[in-house]
Amino acid sequence: MRKTLVVGNWKMHGSRPANAELLAGILGARPFTADVAVCVPFPYLFETAATLAASDIRWGAQDVSAHEQGAYTGEVSAAMLAECGCRYALVGHSERRAYHGESDQLVADKAKALLARGVTPIVCVGETLAERDAGQTEDVVKRQLAAVIHTLAHCAGEIVVAYEPVWAIGTGRTATPEQAQAVHAVLRAQLQAATGHGDRMRILYGGSVKPDNAATLFAMPDIDGGLIGGASLKAADFVAICRAAA
Ligand code: 13P
Repeated sequence: MRKTLVVGNWKMHGSRPANAELLAGILGARPFTADVAVCVPFPYLFETAATLAASDIRWGAQDVSAHEQGAYTGEVSAAMLAECGCRYALVGHSERRAYHGESDQLVADKAKALLARGVTPIVCVGETLAERDAGQTEDVVKRQLAAVIHTLAHCAGEIVVAYEPVWAIGTGRTATPEQAQAVHAVLRAQLQAATGHGDRMRILYGGSVKPDNAATLFAMPDIDGGLIGGASLKAADFVAICRAAA
C-alpha cells in the first residue's frame, strides 16, 4: 500500500515571519493521514528544520548541485542538504529545465548526488502544451524518466516521481484526473519494468492542485499525492489539500 505524500513547493516565496505563520498553521492542523513535507528556499532550511524537528512534517530543498563539492560558486551540495536534515529535494522542476537549461542527464546526476547522501530526490517530469498538442506527452515524460533510471541503475527504486504538466503549473488549468491518471499509469509501468517494484513507488501530481480538486486527483489509482505550488503558501489551503488525502 502506498502512503499518500503531499509536498509543498514554496518556490521563491516566503520571509521569516511568513514562514513562521505558515508552518505554525500546518503544525497546528496535525495529525494528517498523509505524509507531509515542505520544500523551502535554501536560506530557510535551518530555521524550517528547527521548527519542524519535533514533528512528523518533513522538509526539503528545491534543487541541488550535481557536484560533490568544489569551485561551483552559488551551488549547494547534497551533503549540505543532508546536514540541514532534508528528507527530500526536488530535481528537474520544469522551471529549472526551462529557465536554467537543465538537461535530462543533469537532472539524473542531481538525483544520484542526493541518493548518495541519503536525501530522496523528487524527480519532476512533464510536457509543455506544444508537446501535448503534438501528441508527444508519453514520449517526453518517458525520456525524462529514462535518463534518471539509467543513471541510478539499481537505486532507481528509491526516488519519488512528480508528474507536472508544464501547461498546468500556475495557470489554474489543472489536468483532469483522467489525463493525469493516464500519464501516471505510463510512468508506473516504466518504473515497474526498471525496478521490479514500481507498484510500491510514489508518483505525485503537480499543477494547479487546490483544495477543491485535490480529493478527486488523489482518488485516482496511480496518483499517490501532490506537489503543490501556489496553494502551499496558505496554511488553510495546504492543510485542506493534506486532508484531501484519504
Ligand atoms: P502550482 O500548484 O502553483 O500550479 O505549481 C505547481 C508546481 O510547480 C509545484 O512544483
